[in-house]
Amino acid sequence: MSNPLDDPKADPFQIAQQAAKVIAVKSGIAQHDIALTLGSGWAKAADLIGETVSTIDASEIPGFTRSEVVGHVSTIRSILLPSGKHALVLGARTHYYEGHGVRTAAAAGVKTMILTNGAGGIKTSWKPGTPVLISDHINFTSASPIEGANFVDLTDLYAPRLRDIARTVDSSLDEGVYMQFRGPHYETPAEVQMAKAMGAHIVGMSTALEAIAARQSGLEVLGLSLSTNLAAGISDSPLSHKEVLEAGKEAEPRISALLAAIVAKL
Ligand code: HPA
Repeated sequence: MSNPLDDPKADPFQIAQQAAKVIAVKSGIAQHDIALTLGSGWAKAADLIGETVSTIDASEIPGFTRSEVVGHVSTIRSILLPSGKHALVLGARTHYYEGHGVRTAAAAGVKTMILTNGAGGIKTSWKPGTPVLISDHINFTSASPIEGANFVDLTDLYAPRLRDIARTVDSSLDEGVYMQFRGPHYETPAEVQMAKAMGAHIVGMSTALEAIAARQSGLEVLGLSLSTNLAAGISDSPLSHKEVLEAGKEAEPRISALLAAIVAKL
């Protein structure tokens, strides 16, 4: 199926409405409350947060496509939480600049958006496998998910209220500024030094643009990175996607349980 978002005349909010309608019909759940995007290392959380009500293939939902990245799943899951709330797990990534997942979540009734990723850490104290709360971001992609003269405020984008809740689950959680690069190549050591000088602590390729789209849609955002590796040049070893996946796999049970415990408090 071709992606309706590929049409330059497409209205992304209308397509998000259509996607939300398909999710409501296929899951039988009219309104969802929380949505999660689970990046490298976080996927197991979907099995821990509650009871899966339905699993929908990305190809059945307007605007979603199957992920090309090994380690990313391509389904949307509707999960009933013990609290009685309904969560949507967005396992399918959309175009990196579009924010279709969060717009669909907002159209499905979601108020709280949890964005997770695997990222490179700049603080040497973060051993591979350390989860980090995102406190703010630097968008280094030169892109925006927003079009037109639409000046969205991004102050406190990563809600202090939700970060406080996360720290009640694990008081040792550190936090840091996430810098999004366009990728798909990893950063050079010089770029990582630039990121550090600019005030970043974590480097990645996904979350900042999603968070901007989430704020535009009025969602409260919690951002969590898994530092799967020390960023390029911070350690001597070269980066490999395979090792990033392995570090994610190793940390997965621990950080997924952490995320599930956070979700239970929302
Ligand atoms: N840089 C960017 N993205 C990443 C990294 C990294 O070092 N590790 C995992 N995702």
